[in-house]
Amino acid sequence: MKICQTIASIRDFVRSVRNKGPVGLVPTMGYFHEGHLALMRRARQECTTVVVSIFVNPIQFGPSEDYETYPRNTERDLHLAREAGVDAVFIPGAAEMYPEGYATYVDVERLTDKLCGRSRPGHFRGVATVVTKLFNIVNPDIAYFGEKDAQQLQVIRKMVRDLNMPVKVVGIPTVREPDGLAMSSRNTYLSPGERRAATVLYRALQQVCRAVAKGERDPVYLQQMMKEIINQEPLVQLEYAEIYQLPDLEPLSVLKGDVLVAVAARCGRARLIDNVRLNMESLGEK
Ligand code: PAF
Repeated sequence: MKICQTIASIRDFVRSVRNKGPVGLVPTMGYFHEGHLALMRRARQECTTVVVSIFVNPIQFGPSEDYETYPRNTERDLHLAREAGVDAVFIPGAAEMYPEGYATYVDVERLTDKLCGRSRPGHFRGVATVVTKLFNIVNPDIAYFGEKDAQQLQVIRKMVRDLNMPVKVVGIPTVREPDGLAMSSRNTYLSPGERRAATVLYRALQQVCRAVAKGERDPVYLQQMMKEIINQEPLVQLEYAEIYQLPDLEPLSVLKGDVLVAVAARCGRARLIDNVRLNMESLGEK
């Protein structure tokens, strides 16, 4: 497995394998868990060459967020990437990606005003900018992202369409702990008590799935139900529990088509997000 710390070296690597077949990119911030490994495994199945980037992107963190303390373990990540059959890891320093005088950003409008965008101003601008740079540097045919970051996935899909980027974007289902908690590098912030409490997000989402299966179609009712469930957990402070139409994240008055049910909450030092996607057609809705 090749380890590249500079833009020039990963470009050389990709150039040398380009004619062998499709190049897959898995962009990450490292501290791998099963969710990251699922992205790598899927890329391994579909691509001749798999590149993983590990970069804790400073510009997607707000001033009071966890950039400095974000968990990092490069040795372990490299070991896991090697085991997953990754061909190259791109692991640049901040100055390689944002040299002094850096001034160009990518903004995806509207989609980024809601959900996480409301409490994390500038976050998606940082994500869209770094993903654009990674696409320009690695030049992948296919890029893999987790569905746990549902809004991020929609923002990237929109950016790719709007800017005519020649990349296929693939979303991979959320990987969960046995008790339902969505895997996240930030779960390491949780104390044992918080870890138990954190499952309330998944329990609230499951309750929505059950109500919808029984015929409930009112988003206001369902949102209220999630809020009540999450607010019963004293260690969890709800940020939002909302329902939107996919893919544009428009509000909806009755559940129909492709629907995103998304929650975010604080639990101790961790900010947790989770979601489920419901396809109303496949539930028998006309
Ligand atoms: O999902 C992530 O880990 C990050 O937001 C990403 C896509 C790697 C951009 O920094």
